[in-house]
Amino acid sequence: MTETFQFRVLATDGNARRGEISMPRGTIRTPAFMPVGTGGTVKAMYMGQVRGLGADIILGNTYHLMLRPGAERVARLGGLHTFSRWSGPILTDSGGFQVMSLSGLRKITEQGVKFRSHVDGRVFEMSPERSIEIQGLLDSDIQIQLDECVKLPATLKEIEKAMELSIRWAERCKVAFGDQPGKAMFGIVQGGDNVNLRLRSAEALKALDLKGYAVGGLAVGEPQHVMLEMLEATCPVLPECKPRYLMGVGTPDDILKSVARGIDMFDCVMPTRAGRHGLAFTRYGKINLKNARHADDHRPLDEESECPATRDYSRAYLHHLVKSNELLGAMLLTWNNLAYYQSLMQDIRTAIEAGRFADRSAEIQEGWERGDI
Ligand code: GUN
Repeated sequence: MTETFQFRVLATDGNARRGEISMPRGTIRTPAFMPVGTGGTVKAMYMGQVRGLGADIILGNTYHLMLRPGAERVARLGGLHTFSRWSGPILTDSGGFQVMSLSGLRKITEQGVKFRSHVDGRVFEMSPERSIEIQGLLDSDIQIQLDECVKLPATLKEIEKAMELSIRWAERCKVAFGDQPGKAMFGIVQGGDNVNLRLRSAEALKALDLKGYAVGGLAVGEPQHVMLEMLEATCPVLPECKPRYLMGVGTPDDILKSVARGIDMFDCVMPTRAGRHGLAFTRYGKINLKNARHADDHRPLDEESECPATRDYSRAYLHHLVKSNELLGAMLLTWNNLAYYQSLMQDIRTAIEAGRFADRSAEIQEGWERGDI
């Protein structure tokens, strides 16, 4: 841990990087997967469990927390760490993306975005400055610029306009964030599925000399190969000495392929959301516990795992819980899924250090393809 935000690349293997972000609230081993704690909770998990699985940082959402319970209230209650009882670093998304996907009646202007809350219909306005102010009230450690993310497919003009606006908002967020040595504000590369726009965005953000760079606007409806092409174009332009965060991604396969292209940080609702819908991630691929074939299966999901949810409960019991909509079913499968994601990240970090990331990736892929029976 350090007084200031620092990133070091400890080892490389091809374009894959093994690194470390040090900051006052803790050290983040990269490549890192950040469990999503949208409204101050990683759904169905205790914070102690999340930490115990090896997560060094979790994510929170400006949009959700500003609507409920309110950023000023969280600040009065001691900030998001105290409020939620997570003492490590927290990264907060800026709100732009969630406004686009969740709120009603959106209006984007140069000044910011006006929207209607999906919770109670109240109308809010958020500027780049207000987004940073809210993230400060939450006491977020890694803050993210307000951006406009367009859903694909979109026209070149639409993508370009949103990308240019996002650059101007990045500049305003940088000014609003000011000088906070122990914290960071990341910019977001936009540009849709167009390489030239991606390069322009990356170059402009690089010139702002931010402490880290997110890549946004991906996994929004485009095929995986397009996302990977965008990473291949973008990562080489971004400074080697700064962390790179691929927002909202993804499947274990997306993560392996993105690490191979130089990404250091990920977040995704997939392990938590899938867990609440009866889906388990394992070394043998995905297992749908809703399926009747598990009803008499006494085997655990993976007897070699160190996670109690994975090792100690039969598939038959998990099937029963899921079919009966029991809360414990969601809890155990979320626990299993986050355990799998964190063990995957540890596996990736170890492989990069040993200079065998490509081989290890192939072995992991084979495991998924072989299946469990
Ligand atoms: N989460 C996933 N994609 C994005 C994006 O493009 N922008 C923001 N702010 N958050 C995201």
